[in-house]
Formats: sequence, C-alpha cells, structure tokens
Amino acid sequence: MASNSSHTPVQGGLLGWVDQRFPLTKLYKEHLSEYYAPKNFNFWYFFGSLAMLVLVIQIVTGIFLVMHYKPDAAKAFESVEYIMREVPGGWIIRYMHSTGASAFFVVVYMHMFRGLIYGSYRKPRELIWIFGCLIFLCLMAEAFFGYLLPWGQMSFWGAQVIVNLFAAVPFIGPDLAILIRGDYVVGDATLNRFFSFHVIAIPLVLLGLVAAHIIALHEVGSNNPDGVDIKAKKDASGKPLDGIPFHPYYTVHDILGVSVFLIAFSAVVFFAPEMGGYFLEFNNFIPADPLKTPSHIAPVWYFTPFYSILRAVTSEFLVVLAVCAILYLILVWTTVKSGLSKMIATAAVGALCVGFYLFDAKFWGVVGMGASVMVFFAMPWIDNSPVRSIRYRPSWHKWVYGLFVVAFIVLGYFGVQPVSVAGERISQTLTIVYFGFFLLMPWWSAMGEFKPVPDRVTFEAH
Ligand code: HEM
Repeated sequence: MASNSSHTPVQGGLLGWVDQRFPLTKLYKEHLSEYYAPKNFNFWYFFGSLAMLVLVIQIVTGIFLVMHYKPDAAKAFESVEYIMREVPGGWIIRYMHSTGASAFFVVVYMHMFRGLIYGSYRKPRELIWIFGCLIFLCLMAEAFFGYLLPWGQMSFWGAQVIVNLFAAVPFIGPDLAILIRGDYVVGDATLNRFFSFHVIAIPLVLLGLVAAHIIALHEVGSNNPDGVDIKAKKDASGKPLDGIPFHPYYTVHDILGVSVFLIAFSAVVFFAPEMGGYFLEFNNFIPADPLKTPSHIAPVWYFTPFYSILRAVTSEFLVVLAVCAILYLILVWTTVKSGLSKMIATAAVGALCVGFYLFDAKFWGVVGMGASVMVFFAMPWIDNSPVRSIRYRPSWHKWVYGLFVVAFIVLGYFGVQPVSVAGERISQTLTIVYFGFFLLMPWWSAMGEFKPVPDRVTFEAH
C-alpha cells in the first residue's frame, strides 16, 4: 500500500508531534537554551526582564480592573471606589496597576540609561533602540490615556491641559484638540475614546513592538558592559567564547532581580500606594468637577522632566534659544567639512529663527516637549565615540552623563512644583543642558583620550 504522510508514525512523543507542526524546540533553542548572552552582564541588565514582568503585571491586573470599571463620565469615579471597597481583592488589583504604572517608568528609565552608558544603541543595534524609543512613546500614551479613567480632578484637569496643548499647533490646532476630545471640553466622549485606546489599541501596538524589540535583539545579540562584540571570538563549535546560554544561566540570574523588585513593589503596594502623592495624586481622590480648577495642576512624576521643558519656553526664552541656535550654526560652519550638513544646518536654524518670530512661545513649548522625547531616536547617529562602553571613554565623559542625569531629575522636580521665578530660570538653564547633551554629542563624544578596548569581555567569577 502507498505510504501516506498523514499516517507517518509520531517521532518523539508529544513534543515530536508538536515539533512536526510548530517549531517549538527550534524556538526554545534559538531564544533560550542556545541563545548565547555575554557572561559579564551586571546590575543594569536586570531591567529588560523586569520591564517584561511589569508589562505582564499591567496586562493581567488591567484585565481584572476592566471587569468592574465603567467607562462612563457619570459612573467612572464611583466604579473605581467600588473596586477599592466592594470588589473582593479589588484594592490590591487596583494598587498593583497604579503602582505598576510608576514602576514601569522607573524600570524603563533605568533600562534606557543602561543603553546610554554602554552604547547599546550603536551599530548593529540601531533597530533595537528605535523599537525601544517607539515603546517609550507608546508607554507615555498608555499612561496618559489611563490617567483619565479614574475621572478624578487631576485626571480631568491633566487631560484638559495636555489636550489644550494641541490647540497651540498653528492652523489646525483648535480642530485637532476637538478631534482628540470628541467634544469642546473633556467629557464622556473623551473618556470613552481614551478607554478604548488604553485597553486595546495601545497595548496591542506595545506587545507588537516588544516582540520586534526582542527579535531584533536576538538577531544581532546582546551588547554588554564592555561593549565588546562576543561573536568575534568563537570556539571550534562556533559558540562565542564569552557567551553563556541564556537558559539556565540568565533565567536563574533574573529570578534574583525579579525577587528584589517584587519585594520593593509589594512594599509600595501594601504600605505606600500613594507614595506621598507621587504615584496617586491627592487631588485625584476628588471626583472630576469641570467647574472647579485645582490651584495646582501637575502631571504624574514620570512626565515632569518633559513638562518642565514645556513650561520653560517663554517668549523671552525664545530669544535665548535663537542666540543658542546661531552659536550652534557657527560651530557647524567652523568645524564640519560636509557642505550638505552646513546647508541643512543653515536652513534649519533659519527656519527656527523665523518660526520663533512668527509663532508664540506656547507652540514652541509644545515643540520643545515633543523634541525632548524624539531626540532619543537620533542617538545611534549622533554618537561619534570610537568605543561603545563608558568604561573605555575618557573619564570626563562620566561627568557629561552625570550632568545630563542631574538635569533630567531636577527638571522632573520642578515639573511637579508650582510655577516660580527661580524654578523657571533653573528649568530654562537645564533645558539648554538637556538639549546641549544631544546636539553637541557629535563633537564631545569624539573628544578626549579613549582607553584601549580588550579583545574579550572582563569577567571575574564570583
Ligand atoms: C516595555 C518596555 C521594554 C521591554 C519589555 C524591554 C525588554 C528588553 C529586554 C528583555 C531586553 C534584553 C535584556 C536586557 O538587555 O536588559 C532588552 C534590551 C534592550 N532594550 Fe529594551 N525593553 C523595553 C523598552 C526599551 C526602551 C524604552 C529602550 C530605549 C529607548 C530600550 C532599549 C533596549 C536596548 C538598546 C537593548 C539592548 C541592550 C544591550 O544589548 O545592551 N528598551 N529590552
């Protein structure tokens, strides 16, 4: 009788049966047991797996919150109170979700900082970085949309302030703001569309981007604290000499990070879920009241560095920015050889100065805030250092990174404070430091005496 492939005996039990239909073992080997990661990962390498953990926490707790939450302006606030007081275990699910939002940003900021100091965004990892930046944009949108849902005073007025920013866009601004709100003021229509984006649209995109992020990472391989390419030195069987299988070595290693993280996370959930008003703002325990503006409206802490940049841009600051732009142009003309770069810089600075004259400071504040996030995308192309890792850069480069971190934190601090003259001046100075870090990077990153990079990673067994 002729053999029929559908009657071929099953090889290797259930796993064999699955493997003939779906590449389970192949995927397991490629991404876990035969994915060789550098053996010198340190503290900073915990945050990628922690970001995945927080993503899962947010999705799972979110699913349970949606079972009881009501996306209706007349019921939303009460439904959250109902979750907190009546739904069995509702309080812990809600606190895990609200704490998870802040934890996500803590973890992602640490993860991004690791990328900055070890040059993980550089060739061949540009796409990992780009996917990361897109993830960061999605996270910001996710947090912003989610914040409206409890329909408290801060939810309402925060959304009002941010959506009104879009009205500052020349020509289309007012229509754009109405399109986003679905109404002339933040209302039920706004709550419904923000709910829809928060629970389905953005999470879908986020999951897709995280998958792309990991696929890109596994294609080129992980960087490490030395910035050394481990694929350059392989043994006779083709395995990197300085690589160890991700599973079991890093799966076990990451359990340590997860345990420490969960202890800190639980401490906040159980003992300080409001975190002094930083994770859950006090004004948000008051139902939204369109007739009563809170005296001080501030976004949640993770947005405040960017919010400070927005507030720093006043009409007089535009003059300072125009002077900075012209000085930058002089720097380009005196140091850059490429004629094309000179032309582009001249056109950009010219357009900027004309724009400063034509459009008001509010618009430029919005542009500044947007640019302060978008500038991260440029990192792979503005860093001219001959080495990746900070370990082999001139020592003074550490001070430059330090200054950037201080600027970021202090901007964040002033973003939660009410407007003051001193706060405004400091924020303006730090806005220049913030953008200076990136815009001058093509020059400073190549300056100084670099240390020799070893052939193999530096590693001492514990
Ligand atoms: C939901 C958010 C994110 C998740 C779940 C995530 C996950 C991960 C994981 C699991 C890794 C490998 C482990 C590690 O190197 O720590 C990784 C690596 C990396 N991520 Fe992310 N990430 C996220 C956001 C971001 C963001 C916002 C950026 C940058 C803008 C970024 C940039 C990178 C880079 C450059 C690497 C390679 C690091 C290296 O090899 O040294 N990621 N990410």
